[in-house]
Amino acid sequence: MHPLVVVIGVVCALVAPSTQVVFPSPNPRETETSFWMDHGRRELNEALQQTQITNKAKNVILFLGDGMGITAMTAGRIMKGQKKGHSGEEESLVWDRFSNMGLLKTYNLDRQVPDSAATATAFLSGVKGNYMTVGVNGNVKSRDCAASLKEENQVSTILKWAQDAGKETGVITTAQVTHATPAALYAHSPYRYWQCDTSIMTEGPDAIACKDIARQLVEDEPGRSMKVVLGGGRQEMGAGIEADVKKKCERSDGRNLVTEWQQDKASQGKTSAYLTTTDDLRNLNAENTDYIMGLFGDLHVPYEVDRDTSGAGTPHIKEMVKVALRRLKRSDNGFFLMVEGGRIDHGMHHGKPRRALEELVAMEEAVRETLEEVDLRETLIVVTADHSHVMTMNGYPDRGNDIFGVTLNENDVSDHLPYTTLMFTTGEGFNYTWNGSEVIRPNLTGVDTTHKDFVPLAAVPTYPGSETHGGEDVAVFANGPMAHLFHRVHEQSYVAHVMGYAACIGPYTDCDRPLNDHRTRYKHIGHHNDHDHDDDDDDERKGKGGKVYGKGSSRYNGAPAVKSAGFVVLWCLVVLMKMW
Ligand SMILES: *[C@@H]1O[C@H](CO)[C@@H](O)[C@H](O)[C@H]1NC(C)=O
Ligand SMILES: *[C@@H]1O[C@H](CO)[C@@H](O)[C@H](O)[C@H]1NC(C)=O
Ligand SMILES: *[C@@H]1O[C@H](CO)[C@@H](O)[C@H](O)[C@H]1NC(C)=O
Ligand SMILES: [Zn+2]
Repeated sequence: MHPLVVVIGVVCALVAPSTQVVFPSPNPRETETSFWMDHGRRELNEALQQTQITNKAKNVILFLGDGMGITAMTAGRIMKGQKKGHSGEEESLVWDRFSNMGLLKTYNLDRQVPDSAATATAFLSGVKGNYMTVGVNGNVKSRDCAASLKEENQVSTILKWAQDAGKETGVITTAQVTHATPAALYAHSPYRYWQCDTSIMTEGPDAIACKDIARQLVEDEPGRSMKVVLGGGRQEMGAGIEADVKKKCERSDGRNLVTEWQQDKASQGKTSAYLTTTDDLRNLNAENTDYIMGLFGDLHVPYEVDRDTSGAGTPHIKEMVKVALRRLKRSDNGFFLMVEGGRIDHGMHHGKPRRALEELVAMEEAVRETLEEVDLRETLIVVTADHSHVMTMNGYPDRGNDIFGVTLNENDVSDHLPYTTLMFTTGEGFNYTWNGSEVIRPNLTGVDTTHKDFVPLAAVPTYPGSETHGGEDVAVFANGPMAHLFHRVHEQSYVAHVMGYAACIGPYTDCDRPLNDHRTRYKHIGHHNDHDHDDDDDDERKGKGGKVYGKGSSRYNGAPAVKSAGFVVLWCLVVLMKMW
């Protein structure tokens, strides 16, 4: 055979998948009735065996996917499966298998569609507030400094409840440690963006009496007593080191709050560690350090898809969680830890689905890691989101179609142009043109819609980074003591009540149930059970890797995939025949 033929054959094989990949199902038996009968029976048995864990939770861990709506979870689950070479729809995220779940109403007191500050206030303090406010009740409107300073308007959170009960506490986020979600743990502010003093000063004289969020973190309780603080946000702390980074919230008071934090711990005779790289984190002696602060970015921690994965770079969220747990598990009275996948939201705001979903799956790995590290008989794990986004999953793509790919149901779409499965209603992807007689959408044929920076079409144009939140309910998943208290549609503020009640802290200090007595009663609830069915409970697992139409047979008859990939294959055949 002519060597060029081989070369072109290989090139064609490589080009074809980039046109449209269709991944095969890992379950060869799924076309059989018996597959689904077995599947259903197995799940029914699991449900029938499930018992409630009613002892007191020693530890509470809250995972918060910022902007992780239900659509994002479905798409993230498919992406996770497709990364393994499977069709993806049958895949499970680790919390899909948690013992209990419910839905949460996310509205703010003054907004139908919420922001992250007031939603975090709700699920951390148990009290709903107004748009853009953190740690204050509904008597405080956005930017009303005077109202926010009244003690009766400030709300206490699970962070304080846990500390008052002698538990050690920590927060991890991939956003700034002073960003809306973590801020709601420890700060009281009428405006989430008052993260540094400069933003308060530029607000005007009425705001001057308010203390910026970064200072509240290091100066005030309960922020000051957190044992673990990991995330981004060096700029707000006056500890920026990246020369070329955008100046978003710098300190005008010239203070370096990281240095002050270190001095504060030293003055108490405590040891502290300040980390800025993955190597710092890996080399940390978590067993012998009292207080840990890691700031892995002047702004946020870099996106998972951009992250420098070397030791000099920034850590995966999973590594942060691992170190935090090593430190917090030293506590005799247990701990509270919040972990935020903070940049799912940012990827969405920029209309870039892959960025968002890679963040989601990174957080999922952190949850998986956590299940290895804790005992569910004494640890309540809650996974939820603050709000959704306006990303939708549409069309009738074939089973196993690349989740970032395109579809075309010719009979329904009047302009006969392909469109992506993931699209937005608001966002910067607005991209219609007028050709003199009609509105034209971009022709995506040949466009790499799977790229991390690809922006799908949006119906309403927004400024860069301003795709909006979505207002539908979000899901809450729970495992461990009192997980069963999530059982229907709840107000988002209910989450704090369940966590408080489970641990008998804060408003529920007198609930007085015994801690887990380590008898074997609850054994089958433990995570080892989940583990046996890690991938999904298909009994035959034969992942074969992504398959391309034209290169082999597939049981799924995908019209668009056949067409786009088909042309490439046809072209390849013509070229090969000519060469022959
Ligand atoms: C505008 O586009 C439509 C659809 O492609 C086409 O039928 C029409 O002829 C175009 N009009 C002009 C003026 O180009
Ligand atoms: C709009 O579509 C064109 C292709 O038709 C593409 O080159 C351009 O980048 C798109 N712009 C936006 C904002 O998506
Ligand atoms: C879209 O682009 C492809 C490739 O350039 C072309 O074959 C197809 O006709 C275009 N579709 C429409 C409706 O213009
Ligand atoms: Zn947001």
